[in-house]
Amino acid sequence: MNDLLPGEIEVWQFVESTARTLFGRFGYGEVRTPMVEDTALFVRSVGEETDIVGKEMYTFEDKGGRSLSLRPEGTAPAARAYIEHSVSNQEPVSRWFYMGPMFRYERMKTGRYRQFSQIGAEAYGAKEPAQDAELMDVVVQFLEALGLKDVTLNINSLGDDNCRPAYHAKLVEYLNAHREELCADCQQRLERNPLRVLDCKNEKCQAVAAAGPNVLEFLCEPCRAHFTDLQRKLGVLGIRYVVNHRLVRGLDYYTRTVFEFIASHPALGTASTVGGGGRYDKMMKGLGGPDVPAVGYAMGLDRLVLLLKEGGKTFTQRPDLFIAVADEGSQDEGLALASRLRREGLKVDFDTRGGSLKSQMKRADKSGARFTLVLGEQERTSGQAKLKPMAGGEPVPVALDNVAATVRAQPEAAAPVPAA
Ligand code: HAM
Repeated sequence: MNDLLPGEIEVWQFVESTARTLFGRFGYGEVRTPMVEDTALFVRSVGEETDIVGKEMYTFEDKGGRSLSLRPEGTAPAARAYIEHSVSNQEPVSRWFYMGPMFRYERMKTGRYRQFSQIGAEAYGAKEPAQDAELMDVVVQFLEALGLKDVTLNINSLGDDNCRPAYHAKLVEYLNAHREELCADCQQRLERNPLRVLDCKNEKCQAVAAAGPNVLEFLCEPCRAHFTDLQRKLGVLGIRYVVNHRLVRGLDYYTRTVFEFIASHPALGTASTVGGGGRYDKMMKGLGGPDVPAVGYAMGLDRLVLLLKEGGKTFTQRPDLFIAVADEGSQDEGLALASRLRREGLKVDFDTRGGSLKSQMKRADKSGARFTLVLGEQERTSGQAKLKPMAGGEPVPVALDNVAATVRAQPEAAAPVPAA
């Protein structure tokens, strides 16, 4: 679990505000659900045999003896809210997004944390492949807006209740024949949840999985048509993708489409999946709600941030102006001037400790401000001062009652590099 301090938080804010802008354009409204839910919600949706529910949930009993869990993901809580508020009676299609912390007791690695943040979206009410494609389009446009390249979209279809059993049976038969080659974990998975074997990171298990039956060859006609049409629609949108028949995802609620966005940057190590999702047409009904199809995804904010930081861009917004005071007597006016300019919309830094002009100028350098204005007795009496460009160049004369407009009128020079 990480602390986020000023200096680092700005990149998070950039990612969050970019997501808000994109979701707004696509008509997704924000939902905020509680951090804790009944444990049973996750058992019934994500699945008892998944690592998330079986091993990674922070589960506790409250004072009333109820079993609660910190949410390990956002899809089940959003579905619970959708059912509880009878949203399907109010509109046929709903599009929601959320962002916030999720909790999983995972082994710590780069890009894998026990409290991490997700940005996710869920679209309810449309079973058509166009909805799957639209969701992928939000992610693609979001990654573009963040300036992240080298992320590959992998897609697959897991079929539905009609065709998956045949695939399942074939997979179990095949894996049983290769039981000895699987890791100890996968030998157990084989008993309880064989699809999970395809997910294992162990090289030997991956080799076994690669040569195994291909789920796409088992799809029934409606599932095949859905998947074919999805690919056609991705083509219409100009979205590039790879069909990966071994993509199964780590949650049990999916039917038909599943997808993941995988980054190729070494900074993420094995945590290269920046986002994933899929269709879960049966979940609502399974949770006692209406028979409403749904598709969604979630991106790992921590991982996006790691990638952006690797890109070397800075996200801290530097001050427009640093106000330094030349003498003790100008301290109050400096404070008042800073207040007024902030009200007028400038980002202003001011050393509330006062101190020598030299130390204030050092602080001005460090702040990365575009300009410094020194306020002394002379400036106060004449009402005139100078804006000193911190990147170098000629000072700009300015009337004290016209600072904001003058600062705004100055062309942006290259940012001075703040001292370490
Ligand atoms: P998920 O694949 O479990 O799917 O998580 C989505 C993303 O969250 C991952 O791709 C990863 O970027 C990030 N993530 C997961 N665990 C961690 C961790 N321990 N540390 C850092 N980042 C992590 C879901 O959660 C589904 N609810 C997605 C979905 C929405 N499916 C349908 N709708």
